[in-house]
Amino acid sequence: MEGLYPFAFRVNGTRHELQVAPGKTLLELLREDVGLTGTKYNCEQGECGACTVLLDGVAVDSCLVLALSVPDSEVTTIEALAPDGRPDAIQQAFVDADAAQCGYCTPGMVMAAKALLATTPHPTSEEITKGLEGNYCRCTGYDAIVKAVEQAAGGGGEA
Ligand code: FES
Ligand code: FES
Repeated sequence: MEGLYPFAFRVNGTRHELQVAPGKTLLELLREDVGLTGTKYNCEQGECGACTVLLDGVAVDSCLVLALSVPDSEVTTIEALAPDGRPDAIQQAFVDADAAQCGYCTPGMVMAAKALLATTPHPTSEEITKGLEGNYCRCTGYDAIVKAVEQAAGGGGEA
């Protein structure tokens, strides 16, 4: 049986100390051990972006990150965006622009958008498309998602 190793990190500002198996991914740790299921499990191969979280401020596919490889990290998940139940600006923009249908991609899209806007506060539509290219949506097409990110950026998004 696989041994367990001590591991500590912070998630949405709260420190967690856990015992973790070597093969456990950050996605599995967040969902199974920390109980944050807003981050979605889908392809498990780094292809869809449903599992996107911020790792020390950078958007990553959490299904590709071994938990033990990121000790003492700061992870931000979708749950951090609406701690009191009120959507943040990006989430509200997704609602307003009808940018979610089944919603399975939405947490990952929103977190990727969050990372994009942190480094590029007023992105063009091309920059939004490029910034979200690792996130797959099988429902909406991408026009509404790009519009939502433009709205969240304050109506920017010149072509
Ligand atoms: Fe991680 Fe698809 S579940 S990229
Ligand atoms: Fe269904 Fe994007 S809204 S996959």
